[in-house]
Amino acid sequence: MEPEEYRRRGKEMVDYICQYLSNVRERRVTPDVQPGYMRAQLPDSAPMDPDSWDDIFGDIEKIIMPGVVHWQSPHMHAYFPALTSWPSLLGDMLADAINCLGFTWASSPACTELEMNVMDWLAKMLGLPDKFLHHHPDSVGGGVLQSTVSESTLVALLAARKNKILEMKLSEPDTDESSLNSRLIAYASDQAHSSVEKAGLISLVKMKFLPVDENFSLRGETLKKAIAEDRSKGLVPVFVCATLGTTGVCAFDNLSELGPICDAEGLWLHIDAAYAGTAFVCPEFRLFLDGIEYADSFTFNPSKWMMVHFDCTAFWVKDKYKLHQTFSVNPVYLRHPNSGAAVDFMHWQIPLSRRFRSLKLWFVIRSFGVKKLQAHVRHGTETAKFFESLVRSDPLFEIPAKRHLGLVVFRLKIPTLHSKSGFHFDCPSQCKCSEELEGSPADFG
Ligand SMILES: Cc1ncc(COP(=O)(O)O)c(C=O)c1O
Repeated sequence: MEPEEYRRRGKEMVDYICQYLSNVRERRVTPDVQPGYMRAQLPDSAPMDPDSWDDIFGDIEKIIMPGVVHWQSPHMHAYFPALTSWPSLLGDMLADAINCLGFTWASSPACTELEMNVMDWLAKMLGLPDKFLHHHPDSVGGGVLQSTVSESTLVALLAARKNKILEMKLSEPDTDESSLNSRLIAYASDQAHSSVEKAGLISLVKMKFLPVDENFSLRGETLKKAIAEDRSKGLVPVFVCATLGTTGVCAFDNLSELGPICDAEGLWLHIDAAYAGTAFVCPEFRLFLDGIEYADSFTFNPSKWMMVHFDCTAFWVKDKYKLHQTFSVNPVYLRHPNSGAAVDFMHWQIPLSRRFRSLKLWFVIRSFGVKKLQAHVRHGTETAKFFESLVRSDPLFEIPAKRHLGLVVFRLKIPTLHSKSGFHFDCPSQCKCSEELEGSPADFG
């Protein structure tokens, strides 16, 4: 394809995307296909000679769209949202064209510097502490864009593990690192996302999932008890992942209780606010951040509620040197005249190469402005509140967990059995019988 054809085809593609997203509500959200549906529609091997662009383009509707789940449809209600927006799409269009690999400052200074500045903007928008800023005289921390919250949590756990092992080495210099590792233990609530369990599996750090209170929140006393119990067994507590906005019911762990305990016990406090993080652009939701001053790292997904499309995960650390000591390798071919003086994000992450992700974040923040992003969050929350009121007014349903933001948890009321009319929902208008049998639904199968 030559540039002139790209210009023409690019315009066609933008028209197609506009049409797709503007009318996506008319498509069926989930596809009606079975595993392997595509096999019969594709040749066995790649074409030896070029296919025409018309054929390739035509196959989008013929082969791809029939198997797509339309996440941008307003009728899509599965999972947490994964919103996009026009400025976000334009940001990645440019990033894809530049296609720089920003592993060091020198490999593309604008890639590193825009990310540093936009991460500082974002930290201030959320009301995070100054210690997470790149540009602040009292800070040795900063923010970086990772691909996912899963990766951020793993990065945080690896950094905490490295730091604790170095600490343990001071008193046990001759003990092998792998045997020090085997004594480490980390904590999260039993509501934490599966990515926390995965981080434990990868790092070989034992992960203990602690019970929550009646609001699905991990409390300080529970953590304190677990730490004491594990220390008495000779284990070394190293890390807590607190969740702000759990996947199941959007509950919030109690940071103001967990923070001082982590501080006193020398544990790395990592915060997973994957979905709920966006809400903190609104000051009225920052009550959940009480205790944030104790956090060593904080992560959330602008790719969920903030209209910056996947992938875009914000991750901040209080002490970038703890990342450096975990991830630094320094081959001669990556050194540059400003090594050490400039930020090299390759020391903040697992992969070497990195995309110019901050462009789409920058475009979104500038195009909407903080006020419109706040309005967007408030609109989502108000809509959820309205939906919640409808559910509450329906006797068939109940709300088993408090709604805080845009997630409404509801379920069918558990019926009790009546001798005459079968299952009975607690509603006079539906119940004509008066005699009630003793026992729970489980007793009746
Ligand atoms: C609380 C929480 N943490 C982590 C994740 C995983 O996020 P990612 O796909 O960015 O790894 C999710 C996904 O919804 C989540 O709800």
